[in-house]
Amino acid sequence: MGIIESNVTETAKNWLDPERRVVYRKIFVDEDLYTLEQERVFARTWLFIGHESQIQKPGDYFVSRMGEESVILTRDRQGEIHAFLNSCMHRGMKVCRYDEGNTPIFTCPYHGWSYGLSGDLVGVPYFKEAYHSELKKNEWGLKEVGQLCNYKGTIWATWDKTAPSFEEYLGGMAFHLDDLLDSRDGSPGGSEVVGGVQKWLTRANWKISAENRAGDLYHVISHRSVDLAGIGPSRGQGRRDAERHPFRGYSLLLENGHGMMTSEQTALHPATSQFREIPEVAEWFEHAYYERQKRLGDRARIGTGLGIGGNVFPNLSFWVHQPRRLFLINPGGSAKRSELWSWGLVDKDAPRAVKDVLRHYALRYAGPAGMTEQDDMENWDYATKASSGTMARRLPYNYQLGRGYEHAHPDMPGSAVERWSETNQFGMYSFWAELMVSDSWDELMEARKRRAKP
Ligand code: FES
Ligand code: FE
Repeated sequence: MGIIESNVTETAKNWLDPERRVVYRKIFVDEDLYTLEQERVFARTWLFIGHESQIQKPGDYFVSRMGEESVILTRDRQGEIHAFLNSCMHRGMKVCRYDEGNTPIFTCPYHGWSYGLSGDLVGVPYFKEAYHSELKKNEWGLKEVGQLCNYKGTIWATWDKTAPSFEEYLGGMAFHLDDLLDSRDGSPGGSEVVGGVQKWLTRANWKISAENRAGDLYHVISHRSVDLAGIGPSRGQGRRDAERHPFRGYSLLLENGHGMMTSEQTALHPATSQFREIPEVAEWFEHAYYERQKRLGDRARIGTGLGIGGNVFPNLSFWVHQPRRLFLINPGGSAKRSELWSWGLVDKDAPRAVKDVLRHYALRYAGPAGMTEQDDMENWDYATKASSGTMARRLPYNYQLGRGYEHAHPDMPGSAVERWSETNQFGMYSFWAELMVSDSWDELMEARKRRAKP
């Protein structure tokens, strides 16, 4: 047991209470727990690190994050994708200080060790004179992730070689992630990132943002001003379309803490209100809607409309509805800081005008300058601050919404509650607690098996 674990003596029962369906605020503000999370959550689970379209050619790289740590996502000369800790093996300096680019080699600025695209240490200044040619270069390559998975263009990695495969970890969440990634726009060329990556800081615990995107349909009241002002993506038309073409909303809890908000149309009809003022874009989305229907048949009823998104535990949130977006919620060096990154996804062969509109949409609406993101940030930041005090941190948060109304949906995996629920969020914290009390994946799986026994 390490020093950090021995300092943190609470068990899962001290963090959350399944009987009362409450979560104690300390898990959002306690710095010891935050430090333990880096080891037990972020060094152990599968994390999203980028999209293959960001590293199309050999030598392309994108500097990403795994928890607090900087990683280099790159493609070697053979076209193979790698991810390395962005820290020199000599004294730890960042070997790559740019956000993205193309390079034949990563050279550390401190003493000049250089690493090839496969992470091998290939150059050491004064190797003969200073090291007498004795340094075993093959033992000092960059630290590579334990497992890496290219899942339909999205790149995921874990440091833990013993973690289950990505597909196993994803479980039923694949049903919804596939909807995001399988040519949602209806063209066969695959998806690409549009408009670069937006990055911003918040004064909130990372879990507060993740739980919001894992299942908080209830908070739409917070964005009411955007709706009333008619400055949302549908310019107020979304509500009218929803009235004309009703759908049922669902909150879904899936295994391993993944959570999803989705909807099921009662009759198939495209949400044509989206971007209706820009005919080329409205037409493209309508075309996409019918292409998806052709591909999926009756299944296309599910996952159509607005407000459809979820969170792959721990920190990759996404919107499935148009315009599709990915949000990475990085812990920001303290329990009370996080760093959000956001990508836009569009089909490669979408018309230029569509890509331009989506890029502008990201800047105007979906990023830190956007109205809804500002609403959310204010809620998350103040919730973190207001939960930090001596008195406040003794109190729990309430997750009783929808409790007892969970049921299986005939066409979707997971445990569903119609429309509003906090089962998703509580399930996320239950999995978080499983990870936090387990020394390894094996131990976690064994404990699960024991609990499952009658
Ligand atoms: Fe990189 Fe010394 S820290 S070469
Ligand atoms: Fe919101």
